[in-house]
Amino acid sequence: MSLRSKTLELIRKREQYLQGGGEKAIEKQLSMGKLTARERILAILDKDSFQEYDLFVEHEARDFDMSSKVLYGDGVITGTGTIFGSPVCIFAQDFTVAGGSLGLMHARKITKIMDHALKLRIPLIGINDSGGARIQEGVNSLAGYGEIFFRNTLASGVIPQISVILGPCAGGAVYSPALTDFVFVVNNISKLFITGPEVIKTVLGEEISMEDLGGARVHAEITGNAHFFATSEYECFEQIKKLITFIPWNNTRRALPFKPKEPKKEYNIEKIVPGDPKMPYDVRDVIRAVVDDSDFFEVQEFWAQNIVIGFARINGETVGLVANQPLYLAGVLDVDSSDKAARFIRFCDAFNIPIVTFVDLPGYLPGIDQEHAGVIRHGAKLLYAYSEATVPKITVILRKAYGGGYIAMGSRHLRADFVFAWPSAEIAVMGPEGAANIIFRKEIMEAPDPEAMRKQKVKEYKEKFANPYVAAAKGYVDAVIEPKETRKLLVHSIEISKEKVNTTPYKKHGIPPF
Ligand code: HXC
Repeated sequence: MSLRSKTLELIRKREQYLQGGGEKAIEKQLSMGKLTARERILAILDKDSFQEYDLFVEHEARDFDMSSKVLYGDGVITGTGTIFGSPVCIFAQDFTVAGGSLGLMHARKITKIMDHALKLRIPLIGINDSGGARIQEGVNSLAGYGEIFFRNTLASGVIPQISVILGPCAGGAVYSPALTDFVFVVNNISKLFITGPEVIKTVLGEEISMEDLGGARVHAEITGNAHFFATSEYECFEQIKKLITFIPWNNTRRALPFKPKEPKKEYNIEKIVPGDPKMPYDVRDVIRAVVDDSDFFEVQEFWAQNIVIGFARINGETVGLVANQPLYLAGVLDVDSSDKAARFIRFCDAFNIPIVTFVDLPGYLPGIDQEHAGVIRHGAKLLYAYSEATVPKITVILRKAYGGGYIAMGSRHLRADFVFAWPSAEIAVMGPEGAANIIFRKEIMEAPDPEAMRKQKVKEYKEKFANPYVAAAKGYVDAVIEPKETRKLLVHSIEISKEKVNTTPYKKHGIPPF
């Protein structure tokens, strides 16, 4: 056979394999409002940049009539490509082929591309749309998942790992995403659960829909398993591409810098934070008032909303932002917000992204619910994450910084490199009312006019402690600044911190309060 004939044969063979699960299965996939696995990859990557591998891989299962079944590509597409010119490894499970279920060869395709990503030191994107372990392949499927989990863990903190959930993902199909850095979900399409409705019905006798059990909103708002929520697959892909612009290829690099851009004029930093410490405001407006082009890319926007985290650029350089959100629960720290911020800080630290913290909180949320939910352990994660982080850490105290909240939110004591405070900052063990009621209780009770005495004592306490100058006098705050100086100081601090050295003593690893 001539080379020309052999090439034509290849083209024909390739076309056959590219059809995945066939017309009917593709129609079913599209009728559910889903794209095919290949369409998804092509929509995420730069045009013509996708190079596929292992198209001709075949499964080796023999039981349950599997020997007679042809599963093109074994239900997963793998390859490399670029996003805005940056290289990535990518895989997409093909639900049209045996429900995207994971058998031995399917898993080998995924682990091979994971190995590439780790060796080439480039991000990994996994698109998950799978019924989980392929039941007919028994322990081989479980082995496949184990190999994936191991690699997820090995790659953690070395290359960014991104998971996209675009279908029902059960069992093993959710644990790999849970080990990765960012999980993207799409409304009405993504479902994640360990045990599905059928199992729940059998074991517990309860009927529950997949959506209520583990739909996109459940994970974006309640569990915190999802980091980004979109209303369509295309919106989700835009979010992925945007994220890629903020993060580096690997842990030895910095994110690629952009051309600096001033914040938009509509965010006037002088007018956002109310003078009355009890009045709420949206801390994202403070962030938008200082970051380039006022472009703030929020992470986990709908979960634990009392803390805000996300990426932006300052003078063209990526920064990670952590800010208490006075709009929700006055910005208190609790179990979920501590978890949320701690994990984000660890991501930024692993990938050389400076951390900018804005502080305005009354402390930790009191109450039996929080205590019993483990606020001690979860709250400690935040202390650990800030203390452990060796990237440049810059903290700006906007208003309240009371008690443990002051310490936890990137304080000097956890080795912030620079701590700035606005004149409105109140740094104290607790708020003036609570403090006066406790330390002057006797005087207030015994006074002829207890209410007047209480007011006077609150005033006294406020004057003495509810300001930034006591902390500034001790050097815990490096400078008390005008709000309008904030961006300039952030630009300066980031600029001069580029060669910061890591002084952490050698250890294999710490033991954070997981
Ligand atoms: C083999 C599977 C499969 C699986 C789906 N299919 N899941 N084949 N192993 N795990 C096949 C179906 O038989 C069907 O094949 C095709 O995929 C499409 O599935 P449908 O059920 O028709 O689709 P749908 O109605 O959309 O339901 C999707 C689903 C459901 C919710 C995912 O298929 C399901 O519940 N699957 C089982 C989920 C599960 O329990 N997986 C095991 C988890 S245990 P045909 O030929 O008819 O088109 C696990 C262990 C690892 O993963 C744990 C590690 C910690």
